[in-house]
Amino acid sequence: MNEVKDRFRESMGRLATGVTIVMTEIDGRPWGLTVSACCSISMEPPLILVSLATKAASTQVIINNNRFSVSVLAEDQVEVAKSGAKAGAPKFFEDFVESKDKINYDVTNALANIHCKVENVVTAGDHTIFIGLVENVELGESKSPLLHFNRQFGEFRTGVKS
Ligand SMILES: Cc1cc2nc3c(=O)[nH]c(=O)nc-3n(C[C@H](O)[C@H](O)[C@H](O)COP(=O)(O)O)c2cc1C
Repeated sequence: MNEVKDRFRESMGRLATGVTIVMTEIDGRPWGLTVSACCSISMEPPLILVSLATKAASTQVIINNNRFSVSVLAEDQVEVAKSGAKAGAPKFFEDFVESKDKINYDVTNALANIHCKVENVVTAGDHTIFIGLVENVELGESKSPLLHFNRQFGEFRTGVKS
């Protein structure tokens, strides 16, 4: 493993992350993409960042719709995460959502559902970074999160040695 790119990919696999579903609407139906590249970037105003492969079906649709939502998954939602990660396959999400209204969809039983309007779009390499202005947040039950590390899903463990 000599190439910088290979070692970079491996190094990022060693960064444990939470798992989210970035949701948009295609043909009037919810469509979800599994995304770990997500972070908060500002509180005043509330801004969130997600980074999506430019070639992903969701990317152009989010640009057109000018909105997206981010659902933070709980540890018992591996099936949801796998459904949003089927590359090249349809990712209609009716089985996993409840619809508050026709604009905002929530992943049922997610830890949080964050509804955003696109504030800024930045192309970076082969990805498109969306900065969203957070307009509404639905908080679910406070449960343990779903994590991703070393290409595997796992659970959060408290009480590590200090
Ligand atoms: C845990 C996990 C995290 C992921 N994070 C991202 C991400 O941050 N950005 C991204 O574009 N794809 C990410 N992916 C890959 C996409 O979910 C997957 O490639 C997607 O199905 C591609 O969509 P497409 O079929 O529209 O091309 C992730 C996949 C998994 C399993």
